[in-house]
Amino acid sequence: MSDAGSAEGRAAIREAARVIRDGGLVAFPTETVYGLGANALDARAVARIFEAKQRPLNDPLILHIASLDDLTDLTSATAQSDATALGSLVAGLTRAFWPGPLTLVLPRSRNVPPIVSAGLDTVAVRMPDHPVAQALIHASGVPIAAPSANRFGHVSPTTAQHVLDDLNGRIDLVLDSHATSIGVESTVLDLTTAPPRILRPGGVTREQIEHALANIGQRLAPDDPQLLPRIPRNMPLPSPGMLPSHYAPRAQLALCRDTDSLLAQRANFAARGLKTGLLILESQRQACANLHPQFVLGETLSDIARNLYAGLRALDSAGVDVILVTEVPRSGLGEAIADRLARAAAKAVETEANRDHD
Ligand code: TXA
Ligand code: MG
Repeated sequence: MSDAGSAEGRAAIREAARVIRDGGLVAFPTETVYGLGANALDARAVARIFEAKQRPLNDPLILHIASLDDLTDLTSATAQSDATALGSLVAGLTRAFWPGPLTLVLPRSRNVPPIVSAGLDTVAVRMPDHPVAQALIHASGVPIAAPSANRFGHVSPTTAQHVLDDLNGRIDLVLDSHATSIGVESTVLDLTTAPPRILRPGGVTREQIEHALANIGQRLAPDDPQLLPRIPRNMPLPSPGMLPSHYAPRAQLALCRDTDSLLAQRANFAARGLKTGLLILESQRQACANLHPQFVLGETLSDIARNLYAGLRALDSAGVDVILVTEVPRSGLGEAIADRLARAAAKAVETEANRDHD
């Protein structure tokens, strides 16, 4: 299927909803990345998500809903209770960004099995802006708990094929639609602390959230460098045989300041006998002509976000040892892109230390 509105699409969604209600696992597209969904109110079904992804049980999941009314049963803070400070935050932010790539962390209601939230007394909720995701949630009649549909520690999937590459045989069904439009995960915003704090930059930008909060007389906690991965500026050059095989991308990612430094690093790695892949912009095409393998991300920050994970996967499949990419400005969507690049680059260096944002 590719279209929620076609007869074939509707039949696929009915079947997928049946699988969800029966306690099974369905991978489905959202506007950010593909998710791996299960009935959020069924603790055994949710446990299967962790098993399929090989995800540790201490990493909480996001609940996906299709209507604001669904919030009432999942959290003790609702948009309806506008009278409370939290209620007005939820109302203001959901009005501005839902459906869309903003996840809100809220006090968890007892209706949500603890396994969803890894035992925390909070719960993360979002309303995806994708017709297939919305149709699936409606047809299932339950909130859907869903992490990104990749093996734990791997790059998130932006196509149904990426999902199969990681999870084929471990899940019941994949709703196959187009490549996702945003390409990086949702922004996770914690509303249980004052002022609200971004836990993970994503598809809704810091600037957009600041603007929406200002409209209701609120502000955002300043950027917390503690939450961000250290960028391994003086990263030792990896040697063949020392490369991580189970992190993603499999290859070591190295961030370069500009095109000159990218070309210099490439020459360096080549001299050491390492196979190097380039993730480049349209505007770097000419400087990087004949340097293969290469993957062109596009030019704008939205292009880069949309194509980043596909590029990392493509270069990995080409069997490179090292992936080189130039840094992006940390404004707008650039914050989420820079975060993912830094995490991917830090993976091999910091091993287990930075696994919370898989
Ligand atoms: O765009 C997205 O958010 C995608 C699509 C499928 O919706 N989902 C996604 O899920 O990226 P996942 O599981 O890969 O990432 C969820 C993030 C993790 O960083 C997790 O720690 C955080 O949300 N999270 C979930 N529940 C939380 C909670 N109660 N408190 C704080 N962080 C939470
Ligand atoms: Mg994930």
